[in-house]
Amino acid sequence: MNAEPVVRVHELSKSYNQGRVQAVRGVSLDVSPGAFLALAGPSGSGKTTLLNLIGALDVPDEGEVTVAGGRLAELSEKQRTRLRRQRIGFVFQQFNLVPVLTAAENVSLPLEILPGTTRESRRRAAVEMLQRVGLEGLGDRLPSQLSGGQQQRVAVARALVKNPPLVLADEPTANLDGATGIALIDLMNRMRTDQDVSFVFASHDPRVLDRVDTVVEMVDGCIRQ
Ligand SMILES: Nc1ncnc2c1ncn2[C@@H]1O[C@H](COP(=O)(O)OP(=O)(O)O)[C@@H](O)[C@H]1O
Ligand SMILES: [Mg+2]
Repeated sequence: MNAEPVVRVHELSKSYNQGRVQAVRGVSLDVSPGAFLALAGPSGSGKTTLLNLIGALDVPDEGEVTVAGGRLAELSEKQRTRLRRQRIGFVFQQFNLVPVLTAAENVSLPLEILPGTTRESRRRAAVEMLQRVGLEGLGDRLPSQLSGGQQQRVAVARALVKNPPLVLADEPTANLDGATGIALIDLMNRMRTDQDVSFVFASHDPRVLDRVDTVVEMVDGCIRQ
């Protein structure tokens, strides 16, 4: 398999506080299509910083990130925003659902800023995604009326509804109990196969690390070889 990597990171560095904290130091990494990969390593090792750089949520000091064929540094702010909205799904530790919107409205939200969708097509896509993540019939509930595991499933549905080639998930199981966390990872693994999407996790959760295909260990902002 020689398919183009969905993510290419080349000698990437990022520091905070005028260089006093070197969060990511000279990291290079390729993520192939269909990958199920975790950035592991202790708290403070740079996992979230690297994930945010890949997701175009932050800008590196040095080095290159290419996502789905787009070299982030060569894109305008507007193009970068479009790439992030259309091509990357995000799942966070705290679920980050909009509390005043229903589950179905949360799922259809990313489609509202895409061209060429109608209210009806968005509604249908949300209903179908909720069914695929095992939440059929719960689309009218508010996040506060769902369990943590159900809320994270809504977040997975929201990340996948635009059919992105890449989903970035930062500690997605950290707020879920044992079996719920495992079920969520298994769900994402099924979606990965069904929908032909790559997942990159930042996690030190053994439930995640036992189930991914590739573990990339970070230490002090570097990848341990
Ligand atoms: N916004 C920030 N400002 C200053 N320092 C930060 C910021 N974000 C992260 N750091 C520091 O960068 C290092 C890497 O953090 P992070 O990427 O969050 O690691 P991890 O996700 O592995 O816990 C840590 O030393 C952390 O304190
Ligand atoms: Mg982190």
